[in-house]
Amino acid sequence: MPDPIEMFLGLYQQATRSCPEPDAMVLSTVDADGRPSGRYVLLKGVDRHGFVFYTNLGSRKARALMANPYAALCFYWPSIDKQVRIEGAVEPTSNAEADSYFATRSRESQIGAWASDQSAVLESSTVLDERVAAIRERFGDGAVSRPPFWSGFRVVPTSIEFWTRDPARLHHRERFDRTGEQWTRSLLYP
Ligand SMILES: Cc1cc2nc3c(=O)[nH]c(=O)nc-3n(C[C@H](O)[C@H](O)[C@H](O)COP(=O)(O)O)c2cc1C
Repeated sequence: MPDPIEMFLGLYQQATRSCPEPDAMVLSTVDADGRPSGRYVLLKGVDRHGFVFYTNLGSRKARALMANPYAALCFYWPSIDKQVRIEGAVEPTSNAEADSYFATRSRESQIGAWASDQSAVLESSTVLDERVAAIRERFGDGAVSRPPFWSGFRVVPTSIEFWTRDPARLHHRERFDRTGEQWTRSLLYP
């Protein structure tokens, strides 16, 4: 049986050659009151353990994930006309993993991570400019460390569905469900 992670990697590689932002994925979360919300984030790592993204730990998405550690991810790659849906439990990445990713970011993004109180109300853009200036001054020419309130999450997949368009609208849907280390495969009506 095909391995869904290998299948994902194959499509992702194809999308990387033809799509402007192949790593953009919709992250859906459900908060403590059962209310869903979605937004794009960037895929920053994928292997058989799961799908990793990074964010501010005080953000709306992070607060939802702390209250309810399950998420759905959705990719659509127009150039190859494929949709991939992933669902699973969410766990924090290790500090070491987050540190090594943070170190690869541009200095501007590193400073931005420190300056942004993501998802909180911003009184005016001047306040953000002032915060950026203060962070720049604080770090001077030195290395910018990872803020303690900024890290990653890994979605550990329990289901992965591949959708392929059919010209007659009888789209092909193939879903993989994981129990332990085993995946089972089902076809779904379109
Ligand atoms: C293509 C794209 C990629 C994005 N990637 C990220 C990301 O990796 N991490 C992140 O925190 N926000 C990212 N954002 C911004 C989020 O969509 C969102 O506006 C922000 O994280 C606040 O979401 P929240 O208030 O639901 O927590 C991205 C936005 C777009 C359009």
